[in-house]
Amino acid sequence: MKKILVTGASGVIGTSIIKNLLKRNSDYYIQALANHDEESFSTLDKNKFTFINGDCRDYSLVDSLVSNSNAVIHLAAPSSFLMYKEKPIESTIDTIQIFLNIMESMRKHKVKKIIHASTSAVYEGNKFPYKETMFISPPELKSLSKKMNEDIGKIYSSSSGITAVAMRPMSVYGDDESKKGGYANVISLFVWAMVSGKIPIVWGNGNQTRDFIHAEDAAEMFCLALEKDVYTQSFNVGTGIETSFNEIIDIINSLRKTNIKPKYVPVPIDIYARRLLSDNTLVEKVLGFKPKITIQEGIKRVIKEFESKHIKDKKLADKQEFFKTLLPQEKHSQSKTD
Ligand SMILES: NC(=O)c1ccc[n+]([C@@H]2O[C@H](COP(=O)([O-])OP(=O)(O)OC[C@H]3O[C@@H](n4cnc5c(N)ncnc54)[C@H](O)[C@@H]3O)[C@@H](O)[C@H]2O)c1
Repeated sequence: MKKILVTGASGVIGTSIIKNLLKRNSDYYIQALANHDEESFSTLDKNKFTFINGDCRDYSLVDSLVSNSNAVIHLAAPSSFLMYKEKPIESTIDTIQIFLNIMESMRKHKVKKIIHASTSAVYEGNKFPYKETMFISPPELKSLSKKMNEDIGKIYSSSSGITAVAMRPMSVYGDDESKKGGYANVISLFVWAMVSGKIPIVWGNGNQTRDFIHAEDAAEMFCLALEKDVYTQSFNVGTGIETSFNEIIDIINSLRKTNIKPKYVPVPIDIYARRLLSDNTLVEKVLGFKPKITIQEGIKRVIKEFESKHIKDKKLADKQEFFKTLLPQEKHSQSKTD
């Protein structure tokens, strides 16, 4: 039996990774660690899966779990760059400290492989599409702390023989991102607004693009990196296709047979990406990855999930206040890149 520790397991990417791992190999035993519970975990096979509600900043907790693992998939971190703007010291220190906790425990217990979430924001300033071979010099704290983790990974790789694979997600969205609230992907924010009969707020003119990838496709890439015989390196997590915010709104309108026009507002932050696009040559070649979920299919799933969970059933009543804080989304949404 191969024991995998997954940190940040209850998040958008983490929940898809757990499902993927359990489906792909009956020999896996998963220890899922996160500081937020996830309802759907209660139905998983207890012989194959355990959930630990805890904080990765706690070295002794991390150490005890790593000591009982054969490999680690690490996702736990503040997930939006806005969190680093709002709490710069805490977010930056947490990201690096958590990673050091894991790497140091791995060294101590001779655990030899980690797949960890970096970010595509590390590429900022480079030409499109982004390639893993590009020189990176991150301009803000989220991407800087992720780059530091990539560098820390390289140090442990050469000093302790740990394979540390850094995954650089583009713009990941999932069927249900309600736990993320205002930090959810812009696809969710637009769907939530438009299905609720509200006007979506778009920063700029809506022609900015992102390489949107569904969490299930992103999870597949993490699992391929875990299973393939790769060395310490970085991989993009994207589709190689860019879609503009205006196109997202058009797709939602056409799927729902509506004609809602967005409200365009000036971009309220200083560093803002106009494009985001992955070059998928390396991941196709080394990981054999090809995305399965089209943007139309992904958006259809987000709409379906929102309608079934929050519109048709009584949960909507409880969520009214929550969604009022989300809409309009002048404050949050449409993060710099992810
Ligand atoms: N979603 C994206 O578009 C995107 C883009 C680039 C990078 N990433 C990175 O991928 C990773 C996962 O992203 P996501 O979208 O699934 O985020 P998410 O916010 O949905 O999930 C984050 C998870 O980490 C856990 N967590 C956070 N701090 C913790 C702590 N101190 N101790 C224990 N658990 C903690 C949360 O409980 C949650 O389970 C993050 O590291 C994020 O920076 C995501």
